[in-house]
Amino acid sequence: MNIQITSDKYCPVTDWDPFSDEALADPFSFYEELRAHGPVVYLSRYACWAVLDFLVITDVLNNWQDYSSADGVGLENYHKEKGWRPKSIILEVDPPDHDKTRRVLTRVLSRPAMEKMRRDFAIGAEKLVSELVARKTFDGVADLAEVYPLKVFPDAVGLNKEGRENLLPYGSLVFNATCPHNQLFENAFKEAEPIIEWIMSQCSREALTKDGLGAHIYAAVEQGVVNEDEAGMLVRSLLSAGVDTTVNGIGNALHCFAKFPDQWQILKNDPSLARTAIDEVLRFEGGVMSFFRTTNKDVELCGTTIPAHEKILILFSAGDRDPKKWQDPDKFDITRNTKGHLGFGAGVHTCVGQMVARLEMELVLAELVRQVDHIEITADPVRKLNNSLRGLASLPLRVS
Ligand code: HEM
Repeated sequence: MNIQITSDKYCPVTDWDPFSDEALADPFSFYEELRAHGPVVYLSRYACWAVLDFLVITDVLNNWQDYSSADGVGLENYHKEKGWRPKSIILEVDPPDHDKTRRVLTRVLSRPAMEKMRRDFAIGAEKLVSELVARKTFDGVADLAEVYPLKVFPDAVGLNKEGRENLLPYGSLVFNATCPHNQLFENAFKEAEPIIEWIMSQCSREALTKDGLGAHIYAAVEQGVVNEDEAGMLVRSLLSAGVDTTVNGIGNALHCFAKFPDQWQILKNDPSLARTAIDEVLRFEGGVMSFFRTTNKDVELCGTTIPAHEKILILFSAGDRDPKKWQDPDKFDITRNTKGHLGFGAGVHTCVGQMVARLEMELVLAELVRQVDHIEITADPVRKLNNSLRGLASLPLRVS
């Protein structure tokens, strides 16, 4: 490790690369080393600032007036350059524009909508987990974490059955694109054109079933809230944000419980802890590791002056391991108070799909709790590197 630090611009300066393979594979020790130098550091390689501390991150996320999402949540700065795709009309806009699109998705993903989805999602979880338990050995990612969300979520959206294999590569594009043009970015974009075309074609009203989440978004056109193009863009937001994130969430949960069998026993003894267990997985492992904000004006952050229109890297998962906020932060403990964790973000852009993510994770965990006493890792897990998501490519398991 040994991050080189110099002091300039009134804050520590480093050429450390948070998007290197080494840092993405095991970011937590780097965060600690960096944090020792201050809550704000300047990343000279990318000419941007990074924030690490829980309180600083929540302050930034809650202050959309000064720290905007409208110039993109990636390193690309839409104030100065054009993005790789038309920008998101929910994630990459500030209030008041954000209010309108957020309201549409909030309604579509409301609690009553979740109750309707619960039955189908539960049937899917019971069927898949039963099949895997009968097999005893399986890959926690390829056979479970990738299979389950890719079945239940596109069905709920009302997506065509054909072509769904494009969803994961699309997620990989979206989340690798938030960062620099490194090898991960290049690989994700190698064969991107047909994937992007497929996604766009699936977002039209005609391509969707009449009773899914997609159709409910289009109902907002009839109500005069959004226009036809905006509805299509919001369907795209569900497909961008709603698949890889939950795949990783389920994979990371399996990894945590296989690594920490004492926590699995605690959950088995008290299944009502499932909700906090999910939050602890998100706090401990992180889901979205980082996104950016852009300063709207010259700002003063922890004694550092940051000029207008500069990028700030929000290290959500560093905040979630900040020892000033969390006691024993590197311990996976499903009985801790996880309130306020940053796994789903904070502020006006807090994850609008978190009830879907929670539903999927909860139902898979509940089935496993019901059917499995022990989870054991049988070979080294393989990490799936992504510029902004943390997850696994493979997790060989035996259950009994
Ligand atoms: C475990 C799974 C998930 C994680 C860890 C996660 C994480 C996040 C985070 C951190 C943000 C905030 C980004 C920011 O502040 O810039 C966010 C926003 C968002 N998420 Fe999720 N998410 C998950 C699942 C989902 C699902 C299943 C959906 C769709 C059903 C979804 C849709 C969205 C959307 C549309 C936004 C933008 C909200 C806005 O800008 O107002 N997410 N998510």
